[in-house]
Amino acid sequence: MRILVTGAAGFIGSNFVRWLLSQDKLAEQITVLDSLTYAGNLANLEDVLESPVLRFVRGDIRDAETVEGIITDDRIDAIINFAAESHVDRSILDPLAFVRTNVEGTQVLLRAAQEKNVKRFLQVSTDEVYGSLGETGKFLETTPLDPSSAYSASKASADLLVLAAFKTHGYDVCVTRCTNNYGPFQFPEKFIPLFVTNALHDQALPMYGDGKNVRSWLHVDDHSRAIWAVLTNGKAGEVYNVGGTDADEKPNIEVAEQILSVLGKPKSLITFVEDRKGHDRRYAVDFTKINSELGWAPQVSFEDGLRETVNWYVENTEWWQSVKSGDYQRFYDTYYGKRLAAG
Ligand code: NAD
Ligand code: TYD
Repeated sequence: MRILVTGAAGFIGSNFVRWLLSQDKLAEQITVLDSLTYAGNLANLEDVLESPVLRFVRGDIRDAETVEGIITDDRIDAIINFAAESHVDRSILDPLAFVRTNVEGTQVLLRAAQEKNVKRFLQVSTDEVYGSLGETGKFLETTPLDPSSAYSASKASADLLVLAAFKTHGYDVCVTRCTNNYGPFQFPEKFIPLFVTNALHDQALPMYGDGKNVRSWLHVDDHSRAIWAVLTNGKAGEVYNVGGTDADEKPNIEVAEQILSVLGKPKSLITFVEDRKGHDRRYAVDFTKINSELGWAPQVSFEDGLRETVNWYVENTEWWQSVKSGDYQRFYDTYYGKRLAAG
C-alpha cells in the first residue's frame, strides 16, 4: 500500500511512521506531508528520513495543489490525516488557528482525496469530541458529540465533514477517536512531557485545579497498531474508539507523583494553579467495537509505558532542550507566568 501521512513530523504521526517501518514491508511507499508548525520537528523523524520508502514534503494540508500533486506523483492508495493544531490550552488563546487547520485543512485534504480517487481516507480524531464524563461510564461511538474547547469542537467538525463525505458520495472514510497518548517525541506543552522536563530542571509542575481530572492513557505504539487495523480492515463510514483499559485511567495527581517517583524528585515540585477554562473532568472510552471487529487491544501497561517514556526524556535532553526555546518559551511565559506566580 502507498500511503500519505499528514502531520507526521509531530508526536503521534512520527511514532506511527517509525512503527510502520519497523513492521517489515507493510507499506510500499510512505509520503509525509507536514507544514512544520511549532509542533512539527524533522528531528522526530531523523532516524527514518533516509528510508528508501519515505518521502518528506513540507507543505500545508490546506494547499489543494500540493496535496493533489503528491497523490498523483506518488500514486497514493490511502491517506491518514494526523495534521492538526492539537493543544487545548493554545485553542483557548487562538481558536481560529484550530478552525483553519483542523476544519478547513481536513476538508481540503478530503476533497482532494475524493477527486483523485484515493481508496481510503482515515481521520485521526480524539475522544475529546464527546465532551466530559462524570465519575462513571465510558464514551461509546454513539455518544453524542459535546466538545468543550475550540480544539475538540474543531476536531468534531472535521469528523462530521469526513463522515458526511461517506453519506453524500459513498466515499470510503474511517474515523478513529483515541484517548490521551504518551510516549517519546511528545511536544513538552502536553502534560506528561511538560511535567517530566520541568521536574528534570527542578521547576514547578503546574497542576490545574484540584489535580483530580482523570485521563485514560494509551501508549503511542498501541495507537499506531489501532490505526493500522482500522486502515486495513475497518468498515467504510465507521467510527472506532481507541483507548486504554480501566487500569490505565488515572487522576492527574497520581500521574505527576508517578513521574516524580521514577525521577527521584520531591512531590513539593507539584504546584496547584488556576484551573484550565472548560476543563473536562474525565475521559474514558469503551473500545469493544475495535476489539471485537478488528481484534485490537492495548498491550502496554501505563506503569511500564510511563517508566520507559520518562527514561526516554532523561536520555534525550538535547531533543527537548532545543524544542523548549523560542516560541515555546513565549507561550509558557504567557500562559503559565501569572498562574505560577499566584500558585
Ligand atoms: P502534534 O501537535 O504533535 O503534531 C501535529 C503535526 O501536524 C505537526 O507536525 C504540525 O507541524 C502538523 N501540522 C499542523 N498544521 C498543519 C497543516 N496545516 N498542514 C500540514 N501539517 C500541519 O499532534 P499529535 O499529538 O501528534 O496529534 C496528532 C493527531 O492525533 C491530531 O489530529 C490530534 O487531534 C490527534 N490525537 C491526539 C491525541 C494526543 O493525545 N496527542 C489523542 C487523540 C488524537
Ligand atoms: P493535556 O496533555 O493538555 O491533554 P488534554 O487536555 O487534551 O487531555 O492535559 C492532560 C491533563 O493534564 C488535563 O487534565 C489537563 C492537565 N494539565 C495540567 O494539570 N497542567 C498542565 O500544565 C497541562 C498542560 C495539563
